[in-house]
Amino acid sequence: MATLTTEKSSHPTPRASGRPVPGLIFGDLWEYDPAPETADPKLKARYDLFIGGKFVAPASGKYFDSINPGNEKKLADIAHANAADVDAAYRAALQAYDGAWGKMAGRDRAKYIYRIARLLQDRAREFAVAETMDGGKPIKESRDFDVPMAAAHFFYHAGWADKLDYVAPGRRAAPLGVVGQVIPWNFPLLMLAWKIAPALAMGNCVVIKPAETTSITALKLAEIFQDAGLPPGVVNIVTGFGDTGAAVMTHPIAAKVAFTGSTEVGKIIMRSLAGTEKKMTMELGGKAANIVFDDAPLDQAVEGIVNGIFFNQGHVCCAGSRLLVQESVAADVLAKLKHRIEVLRVGDPLDKNTDVGAINSKEQLATIQRLVASGVKEGATLFQSPCKLPVRGYYFRPTIFSNVSMSHRIAREEIFGPVLSVLTFRTLEEAVEKANNTAYGLSAGVWTDKGSRILKLSTELKAGVVWANTFNKFDPASPFGGYKESGFGREGGRQGLFDYCKLA
Ligand code: NAI
Ligand code: MG
Repeated sequence: MATLTTEKSSHPTPRASGRPVPGLIFGDLWEYDPAPETADPKLKARYDLFIGGKFVAPASGKYFDSINPGNEKKLADIAHANAADVDAAYRAALQAYDGAWGKMAGRDRAKYIYRIARLLQDRAREFAVAETMDGGKPIKESRDFDVPMAAAHFFYHAGWADKLDYVAPGRRAAPLGVVGQVIPWNFPLLMLAWKIAPALAMGNCVVIKPAETTSITALKLAEIFQDAGLPPGVVNIVTGFGDTGAAVMTHPIAAKVAFTGSTEVGKIIMRSLAGTEKKMTMELGGKAANIVFDDAPLDQAVEGIVNGIFFNQGHVCCAGSRLLVQESVAADVLAKLKHRIEVLRVGDPLDKNTDVGAINSKEQLATIQRLVASGVKEGATLFQSPCKLPVRGYYFRPTIFSNVSMSHRIAREEIFGPVLSVLTFRTLEEAVEKANNTAYGLSAGVWTDKGSRILKLSTELKAGVVWANTFNKFDPASPFGGYKESGFGREGGRQGLFDYCKLA
């Protein structure tokens, strides 16, 4: 298929727009004007720790920079909590648990959680801009997905707080106490909501650590906790690196710990807690298969595949990073995919037209580059969008590998970037075998016209979520979590509450 790009255009031209005009640089003529979101993210120059309902300077006296990956500019100083800070956070949480929060009726806890959800909605644009600046995701995602979903998680769990007798009918659900949580950088605010909302609904108190590259929206949410009048110590936010995370996971006061992040760090945490009484949930990596049968609506499937892997720069644990396509339609699907990624707009995350934003950090960009180089070296065929990338900031071209085999590293390891590996299959059995031939098992996608095939695959695919004729759809009422090395425990829905209570 011919493309109408010119060297000067930063993006390929919309194809439906007509024929090139002689003498004019067609790409520039049809280029959109920049459309940056302008809401004020209301950032502070320095963020302290949030302990006992107040912002407090770290005992360590140390701060580190939070960088905007879209342009490499510094956004703020973030406190680096040490073991003494983490200990202070746990003591504040225990005091709240033994005090006001622990004694409060569920219907009163619900009011606070509702209030948090409402205040977050009120400040949605401000939060979306802050999230995009700190993490690099396109504003249309933070605005239309991350922030509204975070609010939805608080609303949903507020609804549970006074109905805990129905979590496990016939049994009494009691809180665990203080829980420790560590989260990653791919959905900073949303992961915070996934972790905090069910814990509070059940009557627990929290010590949580956001990822070092994306702490800002967590500390902005702390402002909302203050405005909501949440009793001091119910949620404590400590910022820092792996050392801070390790202190949060191993603190003796933690009755339960919840971690989302890499399988590697998940295993370190599990080893460090072996033999203790702590309850644990782990949400780790993934290498999801998106399976396209020859009877699938192919254009719709292509949109789903693109959403599955290029959404949020592929920084998604359940990303559809392996496309398994039936041999008879493979060439057709690959051609459509290449055409589609050429017109994805890569660039300024704050621009409302941007489809693919910035890679979250320099380190993550290097990881993606390393794995893509291994794909080329091992003999897979590389195709990349010819788009022009901004000169400053961490960006990576949407990338498709074809002629991939199961032994390639790009087919086995989590890349966590906008990189799709395409494999083919002939029969349903072969598709299932290839899809399940991975150490992970977080999610999968199936594209077919046949309902019976969807039902069969939903039981045969060893994945926590199986999407049918869609991908990357979430709902607070729907439990999410993994099989095998993707971890254990569920987040969301009634099942997610089991992980934050003891049943008697
Ligand atoms: P990571 O697992 O190191 O970081 C996740 C969180 O764990 C961060 O808050 C970090 O500060 C914390 N942490 C690091 N070491 C710790 C320790 N020893 N004890 C407790 N907490 C600790 O992930 P990283 O290095 O940022 O990304 C590496 C790879 O992990 C990515 O390329 C991707 O493949 C995968 N990943 C998967 C995620 C998922 O949602 N499943 C999220 C983030 C990364
Ligand atoms: Mg940052």
